[in-house]
Amino acid sequence: MKTFTSDSLRETYLSFFESKGHKRIPSASLIPENDPTVLFTTAGMHPLVPYLLGEKHPAGVRLTDVQKCVRTGDIDEVGDDKHCTFFEMLGNWSLGDYFKKEMIPWSFEFLTSPEYLGISVDDLAVSVFAGDETAPRDEEAAELWLKCGIKPENIYYLPRSANWWGPAGLTGPCGPDTEMHIIRKAKCSPECNPSCDCGAFMEIWNDVFMQYNKTEAGAYEPLKQKNVDTGMGLERTLCIMTGAKTVYDTDLFAAAKDKLEELTGKKYDESPEITKAYRIVLDHVRTATFLLGDVKGIVPSNTDQGYVLRRLIRRAVRFGRNLGLPEGGLNALAEVFVEKYADVYPELKENSAKISKELAAEEEKFSKTLEGGLKEFNKVITHIPGTVFPGKTAFRLYDTFGFPFEITKELAEEKGYTVDKEGYEKAYAEHQAKSHAGSEQKFACGLADHKEETTKLHTATHLLNAALKKVLSEDISQKGSNITEERLRFDFNFPRPMTAEEIKAVEDMVNDVIAQNIPVVMKEMPVEEAQAQNFVGVFTNKYGDVVKTYSIGDFSREICGGPHAASTGELGKFKIVKEQSSSAGIRRIKAVLITE
Ligand code: ALA
Repeated sequence: MKTFTSDSLRETYLSFFESKGHKRIPSASLIPENDPTVLFTTAGMHPLVPYLLGEKHPAGVRLTDVQKCVRTGDIDEVGDDKHCTFFEMLGNWSLGDYFKKEMIPWSFEFLTSPEYLGISVDDLAVSVFAGDETAPRDEEAAELWLKCGIKPENIYYLPRSANWWGPAGLTGPCGPDTEMHIIRKAKCSPECNPSCDCGAFMEIWNDVFMQYNKTEAGAYEPLKQKNVDTGMGLERTLCIMTGAKTVYDTDLFAAAKDKLEELTGKKYDESPEITKAYRIVLDHVRTATFLLGDVKGIVPSNTDQGYVLRRLIRRAVRFGRNLGLPEGGLNALAEVFVEKYADVYPELKENSAKISKELAAEEEKFSKTLEGGLKEFNKVITHIPGTVFPGKTAFRLYDTFGFPFEITKELAEEKGYTVDKEGYEKAYAEHQAKSHAGSEQKFACGLADHKEETTKLHTATHLLNAALKKVLSEDISQKGSNITEERLRFDFNFPRPMTAEEIKAVEDMVNDVIAQNIPVVMKEMPVEEAQAQNFVGVFTNKYGDVVKTYSIGDFSREICGGPHAASTGELGKFKIVKEQSSSAGIRRIKAVLITE
């Protein structure tokens, strides 16, 4: 068998598909472009959804890539031997071009040919879709595998729960798949099959035959084109090909592991607790490095992606402390990852200053939080009768001390308590309801004041919001707004002052839309449809609520109560009079409309 490293495995995969007429495309951002239903890119197909639905891809109909992915659903399980929050997915796509009869023989060739992975056919099992009311049993895939040489007893028909993939979000392209597995040991029972978790089988690759589109109503409509979407986890395949016991034993982590050993003086396999802490620190720092270093880089915050990032960093700090990792240790590890991945993901190096700055800042903030929170935790726990840690108390630790629920849970469990998660969620929801009532007023898109001047400034606020996204970053969102007859005030997330050029670019863009005299169009629709159509806004509405949406050409789409000017030509000249800091990570703009 060939020996593999992470670099040679990536290269082998991509060049194999190049030899089959595929074009290499770069990994897309970890932050999905146009899908508000998921926080992160979770599979290679995710950024390609528009093309799987029929749009033309500039690189053609056969594509191959290595996609950065983040899956944090099982963050609590990180520390065992196979869960990672970040991973790379090798993939290839047919956009309405080839289908099963090409893909299955190619998969077989790549897996078994000595030129590529060179896995013995005796060690391979495959599963195919068993069929149900939405799609038929996949006899064709099974036939193709048989023809390739897979033994009949190693072909399994499995139900939707095992052999159906997608959509990546709530709606979108999906279909039956065929999965390829390495046979590692004897089956645990005659019924044992690749979906059994006894360890007899290990999945290596998944070919999805994407020919359906799941609609919002839950129906599966045939797609205009038949696509292929395949996914092979780089980390897992690397383990299989190198005989590494876990991903932490591969070259991807070798240098970071050495660094951690150097910084803490502890050995990776000193004890099960130390191994677990090592894995958590290594995994979380790697993911945080990729999130901070992404082209659409995010920063730690209390919502959405930023909150996941914050959790990862904070959990790494906590477990790092258990190992005796000194302050600044996360940064030292991040630097090692930046180097390790520099050739494949150049954005990490380009953003390395930002990565260190944000990691250091979050570590410092959290150290303070930890101190205060720990003190309080140790105090309250002595007063808790029984073994159930009340959810309300856990929420108070979070709300008042910034102490994350997960940490309360871990600490409480270490002391033999279980935490009342439901109680915590209830307290959280009550708090949210209260603060949303506040934010509805703060965002008061539906202005009580219908005066002509305020109405115009209101429309100008939408234009400003859209222009900031276009000039500065798609990640910008409104953090507050206030309009008087004289001026608008708009708060948004951005880590530094805007430059004079950026301010001018935003003004010019807004004035350009004003000059085009574009009509402001109001439409009412259910909130979920507005979300699906990428209207921005504060989604405090309940599922099923009908909301007002305002579009200004293709330029701006917002959910809003109105009122608005009838068209942009009414606004006059837009001018930013002040750009200043409002609070940490939040900028504030004051702007006026000048009637000439
Ligand atoms: N989209 C498929 C997966 O993630 C290939 O497994």
